[in-house]
Amino acid sequence: MKIKFAFRAAALLAAAVAVWPAAHAQDSAGARGLAATCFTCHGTDGNSVGGVPPSLAGRNKDDLLQLLKDFKAGKRPATVMHQHARGYSDGQLEQIAGYFAGVKPVAPAPAPRRGN
Ligand code: HEC
Repeated sequence: MKIKFAFRAAALLAAAVAVWPAAHAQDSAGARGLAATCFTCHGTDGNSVGGVPPSLAGRNKDDLLQLLKDFKAGKRPATVMHQHARGYSDGQLEQIAGYFAGVKPVAPAPAPRRGN
């Protein structure tokens, strides 16, 4: 049991180390740490699956920051984004916007099929 756990921990650590250089090259680890909470919905590094909710990767930093500030102020209609944006200071939102702007977007996924 103990050995198995140690092995899994080592495997996780190895995976984390493998991911590190790419993330570090794009921005500080701090910014990625803040942005990581967004990955659940907007996809890893902001490349969302099927474009829903919209991908954030590689988008204009000022546009992203403006969207986030509008969510925070309640100026832009949203279901969940008001709560998310309010959890951060303006400085943190800027770091997050900067992080996503610096990510290379993957090829856009095909639009989700509707109907059938
Ligand atoms: C629980 C899922 C969820 C999480 C977590 C989440 N979002 Fe969102 N996001 C959404 C949804 C859904 C929308 C569409 C607007 C709405 O309904 O709130 C959205 C919309 C957006 C938009 C507007 C995109 C556009 O083109 O209109 C931005 C920017 C955004 N989110 C950034 C973020 C950032 C930055 C974080 C992390 C701090 C984050 N989101 C975390 C679900 C999420």
